[in-house]
Amino acid sequence: MQVPSFNIVEKLNSVNFGYFRRMEIVVSGIRSTGCLHLGNYFGAVQNFLKMQEDPAYHCYFFIADYHSLTTHPKPEDFKKNTRDVLIDYLGCGLDPEKAVVFAQSDVPEIPELYLILNMLAYKGELERVASFKDKVRKQEENVNAGLLTYPVLMAADILIHRAHKVPVGKDQVQHLEMARNFGNRFNHLYNAEVFPEPYPFNFTGAPITVPGLDGTGKMGKSDGNGIYLRDGADVIRKKVMKAVTDSGPTTPNSEMPDSIKNIFQLLTLVGDKATVDQYTEAYNNCTIRYGDLKKQLAEDIVRFTAPIKARIEDIIKDTDYQQKVLRMGADKARASASATLSEVRRVMGIQ
Ligand code: TYM
Repeated sequence: MQVPSFNIVEKLNSVNFGYFRRMEIVVSGIRSTGCLHLGNYFGAVQNFLKMQEDPAYHCYFFIADYHSLTTHPKPEDFKKNTRDVLIDYLGCGLDPEKAVVFAQSDVPEIPELYLILNMLAYKGELERVASFKDKVRKQEENVNAGLLTYPVLMAADILIHRAHKVPVGKDQVQHLEMARNFGNRFNHLYNAEVFPEPYPFNFTGAPITVPGLDGTGKMGKSDGNGIYLRDGADVIRKKVMKAVTDSGPTTPNSEMPDSIKNIFQLLTLVGDKATVDQYTEAYNNCTIRYGDLKKQLAEDIVRFTAPIKARIEDIIKDTDYQQKVLRMGADKARASASATLSEVRRVMGIQ
């Protein structure tokens, strides 16, 4: 596979220095804690794919591998996990010619900005973050400082490129609010307009939550309810057929319970409108058969993920290509990051 050799560093720098003011900077990432599932795809990656095609945006999409260190991965797993997310990104269609695709650990400017922003983040506000409270509940034996300051590292990821838009799922909205707070605090303290305010973004309107099929909440890597882009057809069918349902509606036009809403929400994402309408009507007139609904959903997911899975299988074999993409992404990401960091150090009076 060919890696493009074009040089967008100059263009990126000029974006940061304001010559292309109308262009917006887009930054987003996914933690390297497993392969990508439908929640990652529809919450985040689908937006990445559209944004990289839009000339109004300069996109940085990265693998948040430092973020995975909170759970102490083994050294031999660290690299593999980073590569897994890269491979899935490329399999989904992220194009290193159109977006800067890089690994967080290749950009040392990020941890430096993280250190600086840590001085502006307060223990109380960090302790109130929902994802922190959740982690404290789930892994009380390992409540490390990295978990507490997770939103600060995330803010550094975003602010280092002076992002305007951050395509993420709904679970990241609170972190984005903190990134705006830290950026504004910095601007205010040093009386400088270094950081714009980054906002969450989704093409369909507000950020979304893709549900799991276990009737509870969102699809998540650690919730054991993920349908992965790499899952084979049989695995997908098995997972979908296990979806939680009930005995079915007995009154026409009754409110759907959450577990059924979840199945419909996934069908809306992967299926066509006519199919969704047909099953909605069957629900409303109480003739729906959940077995058929699940079969339909499984086949639609298989159809949707098959081409992505096929590309992933090709890219897995091409380790040279993976390496080249990461190297090229690191160069471009560092060019943008070091421009921001120089400005940060200058306004702070460092050197
Ligand atoms: P992570 O790795 O948990 O998830 C990556 C992206 O996928 C979205 N997502 C979902 N969206 C909708 N429904 C779901 N069920 C679902 N599950 C996951 C997430 O919202 C996210 O957009 N902290 C981030 C990674 C990160 C980051 C950043 C993101 C680190 N630095 C800077 C943006 C900008 C995280 O843990 O995402």
